[in-house]
Amino acid sequence: MSLRYLTAGETHGPQLTAIIEGLPSNLTLDFEELNFQLHRRQKGYGRGRRMQIEKDTANIVGGVRHGKTTGAPVALVVENNDWKHWTKIMNIEPMEGTDEEKRRVHRPRPGHADLNGGLKYNLKDLRNVLERSSARETAARVACGAIARQLLAEFGIKVGGQVIRIGEIEAPANDLPLNELIRLTEESSVRVVDQETEKKMEAYIDQIKAEGDSIGGIVECIIEGVPVGLGSHVQYDRKLDGRIAQAVMSINAFKGCEIGIGFEAGKIRGSQVHDEILYNEEQGYHRATNRLGGFEGGMTNGMPIVVRGVMKPIPTLYKPLASVDIDTKEPFTAQVERSDSCAVPAASVVMEHVVAWEVARAFLEKFGGDSIEEIRANLNNYLAQLESY
Ligand SMILES: Cc1cc2nc3c(=O)[nH]c(=O)nc-3n(C[C@H](O)[C@H](O)[C@H](O)COP(=O)(O)O)c2cc1C
Repeated sequence: MSLRYLTAGETHGPQLTAIIEGLPSNLTLDFEELNFQLHRRQKGYGRGRRMQIEKDTANIVGGVRHGKTTGAPVALVVENNDWKHWTKIMNIEPMEGTDEEKRRVHRPRPGHADLNGGLKYNLKDLRNVLERSSARETAARVACGAIARQLLAEFGIKVGGQVIRIGEIEAPANDLPLNELIRLTEESSVRVVDQETEKKMEAYIDQIKAEGDSIGGIVECIIEGVPVGLGSHVQYDRKLDGRIAQAVMSINAFKGCEIGIGFEAGKIRGSQVHDEILYNEEQGYHRATNRLGGFEGGMTNGMPIVVRGVMKPIPTLYKPLASVDIDTKEPFTAQVERSDSCAVPAASVVMEHVVAWEVARAFLEKFGGDSIEEIRANLNNYLAQLESY
């Protein structure tokens, strides 16, 4: 059974709901760690007031007993603490009242799903689009990814991430061991290692906000301890790098994805791009460098997976952009709305989780079994095969 999940729920609804299918039995879940990952998504310099209202926790309502998965679908909910203010507006029962009382949205915001969703689903209240297209949904994805992450950790696979750039400010490159990178970025308000850069990014975000604008950036995810051979070269939809790119591009506001040096590879020579193959008794086959970010032929090559994603600036601006009212067809400039001015640090956390999910999915495809014990036996068998290769 392939690992998969679905999410449901609106940003101002009672809760987000996710169902995960395909998890093996006997995976010990650390609930504190799960909630820790959800809290990480809510942090970060440049976020608005809502993040202070919400303190996300995942409540598991199926598929787990006495701290372990049972092999049944895992169902979880993340409640929206703001719901109490929206019970009428988001009521599932028919409701009488004025547009104002219903908080009907008829002014589509540029850069959001509002207009396309309204046209496509024939919805005259664009709230029905924005409620679901909101990045609030990424809380459910982080919860699912956090479980995938625990599955990976069970087999020594570790996930980390960092912010590489916010607008004009780029973090200096580092090649820290992953544990150190995780420790240092966790202490940073913008998820960078370098404190000088952190200060510059904070000041820059303040400036952008004061100007009524928003700003995006580039984030990186690193996954270490991945065995060679996850994914496959034999079919387009089994190429793991391609699946990771799809997952990254599915995050709200993400506009690009790179594996390893990515777009840089189009500017330099082959001899400067490809990672030479080495062999010794201790490490077996390995690479002198990791410019290709852990992938060749859609398969992992045993080097760390390195993925970057670019997030566009948040579309809701204090400095309004032109749009057209769907009732009057007249132009208007959007009213000021409460919004984040920069969510790049939070997006970095989301990216870690969607990438971890894809790696866990490929891991289970390769070593799949119904229980953790069966998977471990399959993995060990494969590792022994690699050693004798
Ligand atoms: C973690 C995170 C937080 C976000 N917060 C906001 C926000 O506060 N305001 C906003 O207008 N967009 C925000 N976005 C971006 C929008 O959700 C996104 O641009 C919109 O849904 C349209 O999707 P698209 O940009 O992928 O086309 C956020 C995105 C992420 C990943």
